[in-house]
Amino acid sequence: MATQVPSAPLTQLTAWKALESHYQQVKDLSLRTLFAEDPKRGERFSLEAVGIYLDYSKNRITEETLRLLLQLAEESGLRQHIDAMFRGDKINVTENRAVLHTALRAPRGADIQVDGRNVVPEVHEVLDRMAAFSDRVRSGEWKGFTGKRIRNVVNIGIGGSDLGPVMAYEALRHYSRRDMVFRFVSNVDGTDFAEATIDLDPEETLFIISSKTFTTLETMTNAQTAREWSLKKLGDPKAVAKHFVAVSTNAAEVSKFGIDTANMFGFWDWVGGRYSMDSAIGLSTMLAIGPDNFRKMLAGFREMDEHFRTAPFEKNLPVLMGLLTVWYADFFGAETVAVLPYDQYLKRFPAYLQQLTMESNGKSVTLGGARVDYQTGAIFWGEPGTNGQHSFYQLIHQGTHLIPCDFLGFAKTLNPLGNHHDLLMANVFAQGEALAFGKTPEQVKAEGTPDWLVPHRVFEGNRPSNTLLLEKLTPEALGKLVALYEHSVFTQGVIWQINSFDQWGVELGKVLAKNIISELEGKGEGKHDSSTSALIARYQKLKG
Ligand code: F6P
Repeated sequence: MATQVPSAPLTQLTAWKALESHYQQVKDLSLRTLFAEDPKRGERFSLEAVGIYLDYSKNRITEETLRLLLQLAEESGLRQHIDAMFRGDKINVTENRAVLHTALRAPRGADIQVDGRNVVPEVHEVLDRMAAFSDRVRSGEWKGFTGKRIRNVVNIGIGGSDLGPVMAYEALRHYSRRDMVFRFVSNVDGTDFAEATIDLDPEETLFIISSKTFTTLETMTNAQTAREWSLKKLGDPKAVAKHFVAVSTNAAEVSKFGIDTANMFGFWDWVGGRYSMDSAIGLSTMLAIGPDNFRKMLAGFREMDEHFRTAPFEKNLPVLMGLLTVWYADFFGAETVAVLPYDQYLKRFPAYLQQLTMESNGKSVTLGGARVDYQTGAIFWGEPGTNGQHSFYQLIHQGTHLIPCDFLGFAKTLNPLGNHHDLLMANVFAQGEALAFGKTPEQVKAEGTPDWLVPHRVFEGNRPSNTLLLEKLTPEALGKLVALYEHSVFTQGVIWQINSFDQWGVELGKVLAKNIISELEGKGEGKHDSSTSALIARYQKLKG
């Protein structure tokens, strides 16, 4: 059963009410003043844990804000919720499931019970099978149907069965096999498959069909196309056994598709799609970086799990980041959070975080089914630095929206080239500084700016940011970062009293699309509103 805390709706909690009046007192405080009054603010509002330095001093908070946010976490029962999740309680109440992505990285000897069974041995059995398979493919021992070694790996999946794998591949490319090609096909748009395979030889290509349910329209369509593409050259359906493996929880559908379940890597219903990149869904990652590096990534996840589970809230990275997100969403009315990695390898990290954060916390009813009367999940977005600076940062600096930013940087580059890295890092530090402190009219005038131009050149400042600084982008570091955001999302969901682990909001569109597909294939006529009917009719006419 889900842990039934807290006893009162969020807006009735003592800490919430206190935060409402506190907000009135601090909303106009400026970071300039806060820093001027406390020369040690940068140190005092920062935290180092598990190799991550979080500077959260450039947030519009005081000691009192923090105290009240931490009290809110206590009153919301965050501690009990954390324990319930790690213990394997069925906290995903609308699907009656445990939420145990943390079990995916538990050490071999751990004991985590789901329905009276320790799930850790199964986790390690799958990891061992993945490792054995990866070694065979990477060494060339696993041959394609015509005897050639596998040089290309194509992961077919969507949502959590794509975004995690592609993000991790890009993030850890430095550690990957450069003599193998890795591609990712997700969109049902045929262009995705066509372009991903245009230069590949089916004799050397392995497809990983990744789908928790093995029923997802996009993935099944792409999988069928992949099968046809392979067999067109390889001829014999027996070739499927050498060129297709599956990652799924659904063995029956996997065999129906024609993949031998001996070539299937399983996971479990207690792993949500968007929390699955460290399960068998990470097979493409393991093939790219090798089992040892994959295990290092898991160790990074595990370190952050332990930190989240055991650190006092005031020294707890995911808790602090989660509470700050709530502070801006609900008190300042900030609608978005920008995630700005200053590392090119993390170019898909914002896209990955979009599913993690928005599919988790994009909810408008509480666990008890009541409509919320406060804002929930913020919109996450971002691009790697410095590219974003030359595109949308203008709006963050001088626009009318308040956009809290997470800057991510690494002290050591994986590609030392001249002074590139110092230039990159100078920019990340400068952006946080510029956003926080801006430039006053007096400063602008003192530069000799004519009066009429002054307002245009003023930076108000007081725009909040976190800066996360790590030593180096390693598999461990990636594991820690992902787990940090996973647990921050959980913290937010607990405060908002919502279920961060279901995704009913994706269902309706899927059902309606199925009906329309039948119509487009000439199987009956559907009933729609006048707009949708006209669009369908025009499409039919235009395509001839
Ligand atoms: O449509 C949303 C969703 O259910 C995601 O939650 C999930 O990650 C994705 O589809 C893919 O699902 P599957 O792995 O079952 O194909």
